[in-house]
Amino acid sequence: MIETRFTREFGVRHPIVQGGMQWVGRAGLVAAVADAGALGFITALTQPTPEDLVKEIARCRELTDREFGVNLTILPAITPPPYAEYRAAIIESGIRVVETAGFSPADHMPAFKAAGIKVIHKCTSVRHALKAEKLGVDAVSIDGFECAGHPGEDDVPGLILIAAAARRLTIPIVASGGIADARGLVAALALGADAVNMGTRFMCTVEAPVHDNVKRRIVESSELETTLIFRTLRNTSRVAVNAVSNEVVEILRQGGEFADVRDLVAGVRGREVYETGELDRGLWTVGQSQALIDDVPTVADLVSRMVAEASSIITSRLAPLVSQPR
Ligand SMILES: Cc1cc2nc3c(=O)[nH]c(=O)nc-3n(C[C@H](O)[C@H](O)[C@H](O)COP(=O)(O)O)c2cc1C
Repeated sequence: MIETRFTREFGVRHPIVQGGMQWVGRAGLVAAVADAGALGFITALTQPTPEDLVKEIARCRELTDREFGVNLTILPAITPPPYAEYRAAIIESGIRVVETAGFSPADHMPAFKAAGIKVIHKCTSVRHALKAEKLGVDAVSIDGFECAGHPGEDDVPGLILIAAAARRLTIPIVASGGIADARGLVAALALGADAVNMGTRFMCTVEAPVHDNVKRRIVESSELETTLIFRTLRNTSRVAVNAVSNEVVEILRQGGEFADVRDLVAGVRGREVYETGELDRGLWTVGQSQALIDDVPTVADLVSRMVAEASSIITSRLAPLVSQPR
């Protein structure tokens, strides 16, 4: 067992989080994460309406007795989803912990706090983490440049970012991005984090609702097979290298605008990759940590193996390195 401020304050057995994942963070995976003693988040916007989110939360409760949370991702959109209604669905469903991500959670904090909900805000810079702390969030999850999804525009890798954040913050820190095994967990704790968040690693488990072709590609891929899209639009996203992401990068590099790639980047095409296993059908999200993944375990095996190996690294590999001065 590895006990930290995070496990105590959030009432979870292990300092491991499964963050929000569009199209992937559904009840089956989240319940498996909860049963394994980690903290999983249903992704609110994967559900087409707030009513569907209420049903997905109920479905998850049928699958597990353990606590789980909901991720609310606030991103720029031409037609924004009805955030206030999703927020109300979360509160009315009796959820006790929320992961916010993307823009500042300021608009949502009063309602979540009034409902006694703990908020973990996921961000990509020390300055945004400090702002979130001031707003009263209970923990921050900080994504380094390695991460799947939105790494921000500062390009600071986790090795620096987590240590820099730990020097300034007083609330618990969840290290995110690039972590896929026990070594990453131990490293994150050494940098000053109280827990780790993983996306890519949980996407490549038996329970993840993702076609086997995607999982197989993750196992086969190295750290080089991700790419950054939307750099020129200052809305950078790390996705798998494939025919579509290569085309998008090329169009934008030649001065193209969002309208020129709109059809290529449609979210529904990404969803179809996960459903059909056609890897070049659209954009799909993955992080550099795929280099560290070479199997498709159950969530329970993954979590128990990570904790056991992390304990063994600390006690059997690191502790004996320390000697008394002669
Ligand atoms: C398929 C996929 C979809 C994701 N979608 C979201 C999302 O909708 N909202 C969010 O806050 N983070 C999202 N993320 C980011 C993860 O929650 C997490 O921060 C990130 O994966 C950490 O980096 P890692 O993949 O190296 O572990 C997604 C990640 C993946 C792999």
